[in-house]
Amino acid sequence: MKIDSALSAVVTGGASGLGLATVKALRAAGAKVAIFDLNPETGAKEAAATGATFCQCDVLSDESVDAAFAKARAAQGQERALVCCAGGGNAIATARRDKKTGAINMFPSDQFEWVLRLNTVGTFRCITRSAAGMMTLDPIDGERGAVVNTASAAATDGQMGQAAYSAAKAGIVGMTLPIARDLSREGIRVNTIQPGIFNTPAMARATPEMLQALGAMVPFPTRLGHPEEYASLALEMIRNGYFNGETVRLDGAIRMQPR
Ligand SMILES: NC(=O)c1ccc[n+]([C@@H]2O[C@H](COP(=O)([O-])OP(=O)(O)OC[C@H]3O[C@@H](n4cnc5c(N)ncnc54)[C@H](O)[C@@H]3O)[C@@H](O)[C@H]2O)c1
Repeated sequence: MKIDSALSAVVTGGASGLGLATVKALRAAGAKVAIFDLNPETGAKEAAATGATFCQCDVLSDESVDAAFAKARAAQGQERALVCCAGGGNAIATARRDKKTGAINMFPSDQFEWVLRLNTVGTFRCITRSAAGMMTLDPIDGERGAVVNTASAAATDGQMGQAAYSAAKAGIVGMTLPIARDLSREGIRVNTIQPGIFNTPAMARATPEMLQALGAMVPFPTRLGHPEEYASLALEMIRNGYFNGETVRLDGAIRMQPR
């Protein structure tokens, strides 16, 4: 698929980090881009800075996602590319004994469900709506659209405390092939990126020492990933017409340790 001024794209979580880098790369290639994001301040600011359209959106809600697609399509036409970056997680042990009090605490079920709803269901909700819209378009060079999802290294090597996040991201990996198969007759491709550790605002809680220690765990290059490197792969997954039904690790060969 050509990425130029004729292409309309949607990036969820596009106000920050990996999503924002993808917005910038798509805009640099000339595409029209809509940022779908929960955060109205960063969303409006980054849309103004990049020349994108901001559509405030909570991927947890059908109504909110429908309204965002309606706004984006009114502004820039039906999208042929969707990049799903909205997501996040928590760090809670499955069951844990408090070292001081001896009290035993369990992972709250509602916290587990929230991570699945945000990452797995939120991604699927955006794909269903985007695919339905893409299906109304005439194919160009035989294809109607391309979808890129964001999983995590945690999908296969989750650390302690990451049960919910790992399950949610493994869900995204697991659904990639069946969704690609579902949409194959319509000429819509679906791929997923499994990032290792990237230097984004999501890592802002870590001290510089912690970030350096995380970077040192990466075999090569021995540093955190740059969001632009994620964006580069996302754009290749959109461009390359034979890229379909696949999940690709992008992680400097890191395999996460238990903690
Ligand atoms: N940074 C990393 O090291 C890393 C590694 C693996 C996977 N990931 C995944 O990559 C994606 C992007 O991560 P990031 O590091 O760029 O994070 P980030 O916090 O910089 O950006 C995430 C964006 O998503 C938005 N968002 C959150 N909840 C939302 C919701 N309900 N609806 C709409 N938008 C919402 C936030 O407002 C934010 O702008 C996430 O899915 C994350 O799990 C990140």
